Amino acid sequence: MSDLPNSHSSFVKEAQPKHIAVIMDGNGRWGIEQKNSRIHGLKAGFETVKKVITASRKVELDSLTLFAFSTENWSRPQKEVDFIMKLLLKALEKESAKMMSNDIKLTVIGDKSRFSRVMQKKIQEVEELTQHCKGLNLNLAINYGGRWDILEAAKQLARDALENKIDIAGVEENDLNARMSLAEQAPVDLMIRTSGEYRISNFVLWQAAYAELYFSDLCWPEFSEQDFYAAIEWFSTRQRRFGLTGEQIVS
Ligand code: IPE
Ligand code: IPE
Ligand code: MG
Repeated sequence: MSDLPNSHSSFVKEAQPKHIAVIMDGNGRWGIEQKNSRIHGLKAGFETVKKVITASRKVELDSLTLFAFSTENWSRPQKEVDFIMKLLLKALEKESAKMMSNDIKLTVIGDKSRFSRVMQKKIQEVEELTQHCKGLNLNLAINYGGRWDILEAAKQLARDALENKIDIAGVEENDLNARMSLAEQAPVDLMIRTSGEYRISNFVLWQAAYAELYFSDLCWPEFSEQDFYAAIEWFSTRQRRFGLTGEQIVS
């Protein structure tokens, strides 16, 4: 615990985010900057993933959602797509024991049907192994898109209406929410994106409707545990108004 930020003990629990979502961007560019390859950057990015998960446990975060591969990323060069899929599979194989011992519950969000059989099996296995864990909800978004997520929920709602399980006239936001990924977890409070890009790139569009957005110029492989704490500290200085006036919030 020695590398906790000095101010950690002074983090006000109420002002801390419950759910952080991260767009881990800039891996490929960082690899090239190092006069190496994009693949080198992706490998280095995995080291940052481990640091940020450890930090999330230390600050007792409820949920951490990491964008690992988007529905659009399939259009990258085949060699890179293959490498990312291999890296993810190896990570699941290597880290599952550590997840269990650190009380981390893994959930993969995204369309799993496009993964290899081996990958699908591995995901199911690790999700089952860790489903009783309560220390941290670790959500990995793979072949995930925010639009896909909303579309799937809408299709499920339509199916339920056709089967008379739900009356479409009375449908509320919550009915759609209940059919989305991460429905049982807190909404995203803080979204972090690295590498100096200022966009959401079809990540958790629904769940982050009221998230505070934090952008770092650092590429993901160089983003440190302290940088993660800095984002959380920044979050605690924000006044979240949810449509009200500042005066209403203060009183
Ligand atoms: C994000 O880093 C990780 C994945 C999409 C898998 P990038 O690979 O997008 O890195 P840059 O943005 O090209 O540098
Ligand atoms: C978003 O990054 C997806 C992941 C971090 C996995 P991208 O690098 O794919 O996003 P764009 O293309 O720059 O918007
Ligand atoms: Mg990128």
